[in-house]
Amino acid sequence: MPSVLSIQETNAMTHFLDIHTTAPTDLRTIIDDAQSMKKARAGRPKGQLDDDQPLAGHMVALIFEKPSTRTRVSFDVGVRQMGGQTMVLSGSDMQLGHGETIADTARVLSRYVDLIMIRTFEEATLLEMAEHATVPVINGLTNRTHPCQIMADVMTFEEHRGPIKGKKVVWSGDGNNVFASFAHAAKQFEFDLVFTGPEPLDPERSLDGLYTTVRNPDEAVANADLVVTDTWVSMHDPQSARERRHNQLRGYQVNADLMAKSKPDSLFMHCLPAHRDDEATSEVMDGPHSVIFDEAENRLHAQKAIMRWCLGV
Ligand code: CP
Repeated sequence: MPSVLSIQETNAMTHFLDIHTTAPTDLRTIIDDAQSMKKARAGRPKGQLDDDQPLAGHMVALIFEKPSTRTRVSFDVGVRQMGGQTMVLSGSDMQLGHGETIADTARVLSRYVDLIMIRTFEEATLLEMAEHATVPVINGLTNRTHPCQIMADVMTFEEHRGPIKGKKVVWSGDGNNVFASFAHAAKQFEFDLVFTGPEPLDPERSLDGLYTTVRNPDEAVANADLVVTDTWVSMHDPQSARERRHNQLRGYQVNADLMAKSKPDSLFMHCLPAHRDDEATSEVMDGPHSVIFDEAENRLHAQKAIMRWCLGV
């Protein structure tokens, strides 16, 4: 199986597969474009078309092999605002779920649609789709990464606090796929990333060197500009691990006491969905540091910019 980088280097398509394999200049273009597009349609009804309709005449396939609220709705609405059309496909309803290869599915879909977004389990599925598609492919989350989410997170931070370069971002909890994309972003956008969590839930080794670990959460958040957490049990984790993970992670809950140890004007983010009063208290989620609903909204604007970048429109 080829790597993300080798596919992006050898395949003529402009895929959006990961943050660390997308050039920092392109990432910056996407964020700037997202901010401009958001400003341009401020106050409009959600279903009103953008003035320029850059996706007019384009058909986009949105494939989901896992549940989704934000990714599904924001991509669908985003395509429509840009004048394009969507079809939302469930993996289990397609021949993909009944033995047709990913490669054949990619070749066939490329004859019908102009862009494919896929949320799947194994990264290998995303890569096989990208290798064989003759249209751009976007990573809508795998067990390893969630790059669209982190583009929205960077956009949200900068919207509230200016450039993220040189800032201190602290992740408290499980070293999961969302953390992995934060780690990739730390290098590309040049911010400092600290992981605080229990050793058994450390991030995967491929991320070594992209962040530092501070086991004590109180020490970790000192001087933090942004504190982030995520659900303690991800979609791909076995539910049998739930109780053990709760015991391991209880000390890493983001609550008012922890936020008080960060900078007074620090932000709090969570990609959602959240289990309120597990990984973060409602007091923090609904409190003055929290930008979680701006973060959710910015999925829409960031992904519109990603789609434009992929299609060159
Ligand atoms: N944050 C996120 O990806 O949300 P959904 O799982 O609802 O798409």
